[in-house]
Amino acid sequence: MKLLVLSLVSLAAAAPSPPTWASKFQNLAPMLKSMIPQGGPLSPQIIQTLLEPNVANVARNSYVYREGTSLYLLGDKWTASGANVYWLGLDENVVPPAGEPFYAPTNASYPTKGRTTEVMATLVTMGAKLIRSQTLGVSTGNPLSLLPSPGNYNEAAFESMDWAIFQARQHGLRIFAPLTDNYDYYHGGKFNFLRWAGFNITGSQNPLSPDTLQFYTNATIIGTFKDYISHLMTHVNPYTGITYAADPTIIGYETGNELGGVKFGDKNVSVEWTREICRHIKTLGPNKLCIDGTYGIQPLHFPITEIDIFSDHFYPLNNTKLSTGIAQVESTDRVYIAGEIDWTGNSNGDSLQSFYDVILQDQLKEKPTVAGSMFWSLFGHDVPDCTRFVNHSDGFALQYGNPLNTAKNNTQISTIREHYFAMQNITVDSYLPAVACPHNFIPGYEAEYTYF
Ligand SMILES: *[C@@H]1O[C@H](CO)[C@@H](O)[C@H](O)[C@H]1NC(C)=O
Ligand SMILES: *[C@@H]1O[C@H](CO)[C@@H](O)[C@H](O)[C@H]1NC(C)=O
Ligand SMILES: *[C@@H]1O[C@H](CO)[C@@H](O)[C@H](O)[C@H]1NC(C)=O
Ligand SMILES: *[C@@H]1O[C@H](CO)[C@@H](O)[C@H](O)[C@H]1NC(C)=O
Ligand SMILES: *[C@@H]1O[C@H](CO)[C@@H](O)[C@H](O)[C@H]1NC(C)=O
Ligand SMILES: *[C@@H]1O[C@H](CO)[C@@H](O)[C@H](O)[C@H]1NC(C)=O
Ligand SMILES: *[C@@H]1O[C@H](CO)[C@@H](O)[C@H](O)[C@H]1NC(C)=O
Ligand SMILES: *[C@@H]1O[C@H](CO)[C@@H](O)[C@H](O)[C@H]1NC(C)=O
Repeated sequence: MKLLVLSLVSLAAAAPSPPTWASKFQNLAPMLKSMIPQGGPLSPQIIQTLLEPNVANVARNSYVYREGTSLYLLGDKWTASGANVYWLGLDENVVPPAGEPFYAPTNASYPTKGRTTEVMATLVTMGAKLIRSQTLGVSTGNPLSLLPSPGNYNEAAFESMDWAIFQARQHGLRIFAPLTDNYDYYHGGKFNFLRWAGFNITGSQNPLSPDTLQFYTNATIIGTFKDYISHLMTHVNPYTGITYAADPTIIGYETGNELGGVKFGDKNVSVEWTREICRHIKTLGPNKLCIDGTYGIQPLHFPITEIDIFSDHFYPLNNTKLSTGIAQVESTDRVYIAGEIDWTGNSNGDSLQSFYDVILQDQLKEKPTVAGSMFWSLFGHDVPDCTRFVNHSDGFALQYGNPLNTAKNNTQISTIREHYFAMQNITVDSYLPAVACPHNFIPGYEAEYTYF
């Protein structure tokens, strides 16, 4: 058995194409045959079908790592295209049946397991590899969150997170999550920590009090925040038996979402704080990547060697800003991700295709700097109700397969899918394959294994 595992590791590292490598493993046939005593003949083709799931398992149990400007998995270049799916830990768009956990002031509720599973299958179909999910990292200040108030952890909040992380793993997808938010949304953010420390500030105040910067400087607040991160990352997921810190499914954590100082987009996020939070993440999870959560590329953070990835958000798409950011990040020998992009084509920015062309051009290099881009944001059916889609009011909800989509909506979605496959050197056409809605989801019968 040990020999088998070792063989598979070297097999996956070499990443040969299935038809040739299958024949090399004919010597495994007797071993496999002994494991299936009443089985039928094991032809090379059938041995290949037995090996494929193991190759996928070797990959999903291996960490994504950075070398210079590029990300790798098992020695191969790894692309990080995907979606923002902000609601996986806690949602705000569905009113659950009476009796289920619900926080009416913000419409907060836990998503159904079927919604999560469907969205994972959708991402596989789209050629995505990575999910960015606010509520798998930001969960503070409301009764359904992980930290409703300081020192008072709500373990029930882990159930939806655990399921999402397990389902991502089973679908061959990876996750990263911001740890707090620059704003005061339903899932929480930096203002919770400020108010808990007695700074009476809300995100809607304009202008914001200069005390907002206490989030980055006040030792009491930093202590509470680091304790929260520790609680999150040391949690053992019952579906996997390992902590979030140890799970390769979570490639890393982002210090926050669109962090800034007291003015929108001012990038005034303390260097010392960013270093301290990245160090904390890596102390808990030595294989985790740290993503700078500052809104935009902040060159003052380049000396922070603990940062692996810098990112920017695009509303609207702006190829000049993208190219400039890539060049800056390349010069500091780190990875670039476009962490949120407007996919709709409804704004006066550059076209989605031209934006993707910039990214693909970089990907074709021997050592790319752009690992990928993440559109904002994905929704699926209101599972178990497979007749209607969940919508969100921001105008950016991507509902894959919704019959109400316009031709233009679907053209944009095809463009995304073609690009995500092109990033892996695979050509697909504009056809959008259907994704099954799990409907009356039964644990154990979900699409558990997808071999990508
Ligand atoms: C909650 O949802 C209801 C029904 O969709 C809506 O009318 C209401 O405005 C929402 N409340 C908040 C705080 O978003
Ligand atoms: C930090 O916050 C605490 C309240 O939690 C407060 O007592 C203290 O004065 C603050 N420190 C500074 C330097 O403002
Ligand atoms: C907090 O500030 C708001 C105004 O922004 C005020 O109405 C409220 O009374 C303040 N709360 C405390 C505890 O000072
Ligand atoms: C942001 O920081 C810069 C210096 O790093 C400073 O000049 C500027 O005033 C700060 N802006 C705000 C809004 O605090
Ligand atoms: C694109 O970004 C550049 C900065 O890189 C800025 O000067 C320009 O105004 C932006 N264009 C649009 C249309 O927002
Ligand atoms: C879908 O297309 C319609 C019609 O052009 C548009 O109003 C709507 O915003 C589009 N939806 C999204 C999420 O882009
Ligand atoms: C989704 O919400 C947006 C914004 O509120 C709205 O324009 C759009 O028509 C809705 N789409 C569907 C399919 O309900
Ligand atoms: C991409 O695929 C083509 C044809 O399948 C192949 O010739 C080429 O070498 C591949 N490029 C890379 C970078 O893998």
